Amino acid sequence: MISVKEIIKTLDLQPHPEGGYFREVYRSEGVIPNSNLTDNFQGDRNYATSIYYLLESGDFSAFHKINQDETWHFYIGDAIELHVISENGSLSTIKIGNDISNGEIPQFTVQKHDWFAAKVKNPDTFALVGCTVSPGFDFRDFELASHDMLVEKYPEHKALIKAFTRH
Ligand code: GUN
Repeated sequence: MISVKEIIKTLDLQPHPEGGYFREVYRSEGVIPNSNLTDNFQGDRNYATSIYYLLESGDFSAFHKINQDETWHFYIGDAIELHVISENGSLSTIKIGNDISNGEIPQFTVQKHDWFAAKVKNPDTFALVGCTVSPGFDFRDFELASHDMLVEKYPEHKALIKAFTRH
């Protein structure tokens, strides 16, 4: 089995501000002018983008949200547990993996503006996934949650938020 180190090196992944490692692999040439986007976008956006995203056990993807729906595609490794808090506060936990007979699913789309966080469930392993968004990604679309802001909004999820925020 290929090591995490080798994947990071070969795919040239870089640390992501939310935790884990990533590299953008596709950005469409086509551009959507700002006038055709909803008000929460500043500037133009490419039609779509996609990234590799790698998460190791012991690390986590901290709660964040983006302006786009984001589709996660499972590639290799162990299952990821993805926690999604919708705008109305309802929580769903999705297992993204390839053990389909045990409730894991290989593809899942997080809705725009939902808060989400993730980790690999089993120790000493990792998951490599793809994340695709349209309109294309821009860090102006990305907000990392602060612990206090998210707990104030969703006090019923205090313990989960504590486990999945860094500041
Ligand atoms: N490009 C840089 N960061 C991200 C991210 O979190 N999601 C997507 N889809 N693209 C990115």
